[in-house]
Amino acid sequence: MRILLTGASGFVGSNIAKVMTDRYGDEVVSKRVDMTDAAAVTGHVAEARPDAIVHCAIMNDWDQMHADRHGAWAAYVEATRNYGDAANAADIPWCLVSTDWVFDGTQSMATEDTPPNPINLYGFLKAASEIVAVERGGSIARVMGVNGTHWARPTTPRAQDPGYGYFVASIVDALEQGEPFTVWEGDELNSIASPSLGSHCGEVMRAAVAGGHTGIFHCAGAQAVSRRELAEATVSAFGLDRSLLHFGRAPAEAFAGQTIPHDTSVSAEYTAATLGTPLHSLDRILELFKAERETGGIGPTPT
Ligand SMILES: NC(=O)c1ccc[n+]([C@@H]2O[C@H](COP(=O)([O-])OP(=O)(O)OC[C@H]3O[C@@H](n4cnc5c(N)ncnc54)[C@H](OP(=O)(O)O)[C@@H]3O)[C@@H](O)[C@H]2O)c1
Repeated sequence: MRILLTGASGFVGSNIAKVMTDRYGDEVVSKRVDMTDAAAVTGHVAEARPDAIVHCAIMNDWDQMHADRHGAWAAYVEATRNYGDAANAADIPWCLVSTDWVFDGTQSMATEDTPPNPINLYGFLKAASEIVAVERGGSIARVMGVNGTHWARPTTPRAQDPGYGYFVASIVDALEQGEPFTVWEGDELNSIASPSLGSHCGEVMRAAVAGGHTGIFHCAGAQAVSRRELAEATVSAFGLDRSLLHFGRAPAEAFAGQTIPHDTSVSAEYTAATLGTPLHSLDRILELFKAERETGGIGPTPT
């Protein structure tokens, strides 16, 4: 397939691109255009002539999102509309990358059809974008607690945030170098989630667009875990020095004024059953990530 992918230089996008090119032999087109400009998006899609679109790019600066609400709305909701309209004009399947933060943090083990109830600006903009995608016949791939390799840059952009992104890689990076790592804990954080692997997220999206599916899918592992449980499992899976792991509160600046959903655990059983994608245990996710780090690549679709 020839796939137009936005955000290919980002963490999740680099994993989607890796799966599509290395595992499926797809051609990924990823020129950066102004995604808020409908004409620019339509022009790029017409020029690229893709078989499918995956829209993964995101304005990822919380301070900027709060300071420029019009810009944030355009970067999330209008950009999604632009890619959805362009996909429909070209009569090709498309997928919006979304998040477990569309849930409010009390909707434990939310399923693909649990109605969202976001509690911060990011979650609201993503939920609004999801409505646009549903109404335009796209598929939605909610990614969450994404761990794995950043294939487009040598290190992760940050060591830890109030969510679960980069968490495992950051612990491994620190402890492998003999440096301590303080795992943030506290009710004000995203404290329970269903971690996934970046390459598995790409697998779900590839299955969604290749099969022309519509509706909502969860890119998640089979297990919900706390931050402490995930840190302990990481130390065990990678054979790291447990004495370097510490636990403490997050600094106030980590929150950028946002309220954070507490328990964003989900079920991905419908996704696995519908798309035929694997539903990995946490141990398997960590094992696969370890293999990616050791080999510098991804193998065939894991079972
Ligand atoms: N990481 C996680 O754990 C996580 C969790 C839940 C959901 N997600 C979702 O996954 C998606 C990707 O997140 P990520 O963590 O991979 O983000 P990221 O690493 O910050 O990557 C963001 C990507 O978006 C691109 N981008 C930013 N502004 C753009 C613009 N105005 N026009 C075009 N491209 C633009 C960036 O391109 P440049 O490199 O050129 O700036 C980059 O490729 C998002 O939809 C996010 O909501 C991620």
